[in-house]
Amino acid sequence: MAIILVILLVTAILLFVFVGQMSGKIQNSMKTALINKYGVNLDHSENRMVTEVWDLMQKNLECCGVHGGINSTDSWAIYKTNSQWFKKGNNRKAYVPDSCCRHDGDIIACTGLNGTEGTPIDGPPVSGNVNPHLYHKGCYDELVNYVQGHVLMIGGIAVASIVVILFGLIFSMSLYRSIREVDSY
Ligand SMILES: *[C@@H]1O[C@H](CO)[C@@H](O)[C@H](O)[C@H]1NC(C)=O
Ligand SMILES: *[C@@H]1O[C@H](CO)[C@@H](O)[C@H](O)[C@H]1NC(C)=O
Repeated sequence: MAIILVILLVTAILLFVFVGQMSGKIQNSMKTALINKYGVNLDHSENRMVTEVWDLMQKNLECCGVHGGINSTDSWAIYKTNSQWFKKGNNRKAYVPDSCCRHDGDIIACTGLNGTEGTPIDGPPVSGNVNPHLYHKGCYDELVNYVQGHVLMIGGIAVASIVVILFGLIFSMSLYRSIREVDSY
């Protein structure tokens, strides 16, 4: 039991350190992919995949863009300030993709199509109206929250796999030994 706890702890720490070390790189590649590939040249399979992954992530993690909160230029605002999706006019006048909107919310108001004051048309920084239909937090942040929340579960699965593999090894070793013993008679 103690060894399982130690392995769990080490796994959790390693994951934590790994996420910390990788965070800059992960954020940068998420940003580059969003800016250059989201919602443009969808006949390229890579762009289509990037777009689908971003939509999935934004819907399921309830986030928008990459990093930071409501006043960050890298969260919801990255679409209107940086993305090719916006610059090339693939956005059909929306300021953020539909996947940045609460599924029970108002898409028109969320994406800024009816000229509602506040986000996503104005800001950042956002001082007045906060759009209640729009996710304001970056997906990198929500991803890290999600991973940290599931570290114990992920560690548990890793430990369970190791135990199963060890049992398999021990079993096959004893089987091998007993066969050799039978052979030597
Ligand atoms: C836009 O839509 C929202 C939600 O339906 C509504 O509250 C707001 O008044 C609308 N704004 C304009 C300018 O039509
Ligand atoms: C965003 O910036 C505005 C203006 O500087 C400030 O009033 C507001 O409190 C900030 N919001 C958050 C959540 O930091």
